[in-house]
Amino acid sequence: MKLSHTSSPLRGEITVPGDKSISHRAVMFGSLAGGTTEITHFLTGADCLSTIACFRKMGIDITDNGDHVLVHGKGLHGLTAPTSTLDVGNSGTTTRLISGILAGQNFESVLDGDDSIRRRPMNRVIKPLSMMGADIQGTGNGCAPLTIHGKQLSAIHYDSPVASAQVKSCVLLAGLYADGTTSVTEPALSRNHTEMMLRSFGADIKSEGLTASITPDPVLAGQQIEVPGDISSAAYFIAAALLVPGSEVLLKNVGINPTRDGLLRVCKDMGADIQYLNERTCAGEPVADLLVRHSKLHGTKISGDIIPTLIDEIPVIAVMAAFAEGTTEIRDAAELKVKESDRIAVMTENLRAIGADVTPLDDGMIIEGKEALKGAPVDSYLDHRIAMSFAVASLVAEGEIDIKDAECVNISYPGFYADLEKLTK
Ligand code: S3P
Repeated sequence: MKLSHTSSPLRGEITVPGDKSISHRAVMFGSLAGGTTEITHFLTGADCLSTIACFRKMGIDITDNGDHVLVHGKGLHGLTAPTSTLDVGNSGTTTRLISGILAGQNFESVLDGDDSIRRRPMNRVIKPLSMMGADIQGTGNGCAPLTIHGKQLSAIHYDSPVASAQVKSCVLLAGLYADGTTSVTEPALSRNHTEMMLRSFGADIKSEGLTASITPDPVLAGQQIEVPGDISSAAYFIAAALLVPGSEVLLKNVGINPTRDGLLRVCKDMGADIQYLNERTCAGEPVADLLVRHSKLHGTKISGDIIPTLIDEIPVIAVMAAFAEGTTEIRDAAELKVKESDRIAVMTENLRAIGADVTPLDDGMIIEGKEALKGAPVDSYLDHRIAMSFAVASLVAEGEIDIKDAECVNISYPGFYADLEKLTK
């Protein structure tokens, strides 16, 4: 897809689609609860549809009408054996969270997905689940397809080597089927949607600092969940409005959970003008409308505990840094290498293609901002966040950016290009 420089500022308002992490969890927990869970503003991206398809294959009746979804849960022990492989598509969240659930069932299942999923590390869940007594096998190098023979699980305490909500959630979900209290400690706090939402379904979950613990066999009850807008999707319009002179955009109903809001803190550090309006809660999560105005950005340093709170936003932060004044240094983000693509390598390659000055690091990158960058072909490597980041870059680069496999945005944001166009009209 060829996208070019915009001569008009971004103006107007937009409601971004529902949060991906929260949409996945609403379907999963609704399936394990008794009664109906009604989800509104559900994200209809391909990843969340993969989660729906997996639970349907395990006997859960789910009706979806656009972003309105009804999950007719069958309780913690109500899933039935799938008759074929559970297809997780491109979704790491589906794979890792479902693994925790499947480990405690009384049936066998196989999880598999696309080429990207087959490259992503699953030992990070195979290891703690095996410690719980699970029977879970991946390929020789610990990747999907995963074969899981469900079993009664033993409670453990797990010291996770990575700050990963997917690992934490996997262990906590397995803990629903364990014989005592299961707990996970992570090196830095990752997103806490599992803890918050499972608690609202009736689970006994405690969060104390970096440790979350769960007691087994709760009775979960269906809930009404209005999914907040996804800050990870809002990120592209925030960046676009900050970069394009004269822009002023209102992003409505954006989730600002402190375990997800690192982008906003970094933007502020870079000199951004972002106002929070109408702060409230939605499905127990803090949300706000964000008023974003064009700002002169300068470089910053991003490292340490903030990284898990903005891990998915680093590609678009790197784009902002490439157009900002001065140097931006991103550290402690080695996790970028094992996302939908190797985001350190792919961002370096694509930013260099448009003329940016980038030094890749083992755990991040250093970007020297430049006033002007040029158009060039870039490759999304089928990674939705890479495609959306370069759509933002195209608005301010001189010339045309041609994004290979641009339609991969459908993973998390089916209407992305239409919404971007709406704001530039
Ligand atoms: C997610 C957690 C993050 C994030 C992913 C969604 C989740 O992964 O990158 O897009 O919903 O739990 P990690 O927690 O593994 O970093």
